[in-house]
Amino acid sequence: MSKKRVAVLISGRGSNMTALIEAAQAKDYPAEIVLVVSNRPDAAGLVHAREAGVATAVIDHRLFGQNREAFERALDDELRKHRIDIVCLAGFMRLLTTWFIGRWSGRILNIHPALLPEFKGLDTHRRVLAAGVKRHGATVHFVIEETDAGPVISQQSVPVRQGDTEETLAARVLEIEHRIYPEALRLVAEGRAKFAAPHLK
Ligand code: GRF
Repeated sequence: MSKKRVAVLISGRGSNMTALIEAAQAKDYPAEIVLVVSNRPDAAGLVHAREAGVATAVIDHRLFGQNREAFERALDDELRKHRIDIVCLAGFMRLLTTWFIGRWSGRILNIHPALLPEFKGLDTHRRVLAAGVKRHGATVHFVIEETDAGPVISQQSVPVRQGDTEETLAARVLEIEHRIYPEALRLVAEGRAKFAAPHLK
């Protein structure tokens, strides 16, 4: 079976991207990371991707002003140029339009640092500490139009410990993010996790 061609979309540090690149180096892994795209030219992850020998592209959203669809058309062109099968969002800080999500539906994944459907949105670690809950975690899910929603592919929890700060909690969650994202991508690449949006079936 041929390996699925994967693009990882980032905006910053790119530690999940690195975890995916490393996992995909295994011979029996069903996907290869062939492209990393950043919407920010200064994303640190771009440097790591280049060091790992992965092709990179920058599509700076600021050049497109308010025209989100024009930005996404440029992104979509880049993905098609590289014959991408699956897109992994990994700390990609742009909301995507219905047009783009429709085009990639069932083939676009995201990682969120919380146990969805709890704590959608930003600043999850701070909000988890403020809420006083005992469990936190991370989720990989198929992307749908609604932000941080969509069928869960993989999810794992961690304890919230007494004395935790945003930083200690974020580090504990990040460790499992790096484990579950490669697992989830494997499931999708092997066709063992599938999603077809009702209107696209
Ligand atoms: C991760 O916590 C991810 O879950 C969230 O943004 C962060 C990105 O980190 N969506 P990195 O760029 O992968 O290091």
